[in-house]
Amino acid sequence: MPRITFITVDGERVETDAKAGNSVMEVAKELDLPMLAACGGALACATCHVIVEEDWFEKTGELSEDEEDLLDTAHDLTETSRLCCQIKVSDDLDGLVVRLTPME
Ligand code: FES
Repeated sequence: MPRITFITVDGERVETDAKAGNSVMEVAKELDLPMLAACGGALACATCHVIVEEDWFEKTGELSEDEEDLLDTAHDLTETSRLCCQIKVSDDLDGLVVRLTPME
């Protein structure tokens, strides 16, 4: 199972073995991490914004145009920002590290 690490806004590291095929957002919700993910993964809210550690960014895949447009509405946007409902867990992402952003 791919291992994923979340870093909370307070700097706490939360590691988990994630099920391939789930989205990173679903993994975060299962862990009860502070993330709104208000639209449930429908690409309509931007409240699942995470910052991917630089080395991992490319491995998380291409952003769709819709994701890019929605990300523009997120606070604290960075070069490696993603909407994590759009990142699918796979074996290639074993070791992935993402930072949560403040809940709005
Ligand atoms: S959960 Fe709404 S865009 Fe990801």
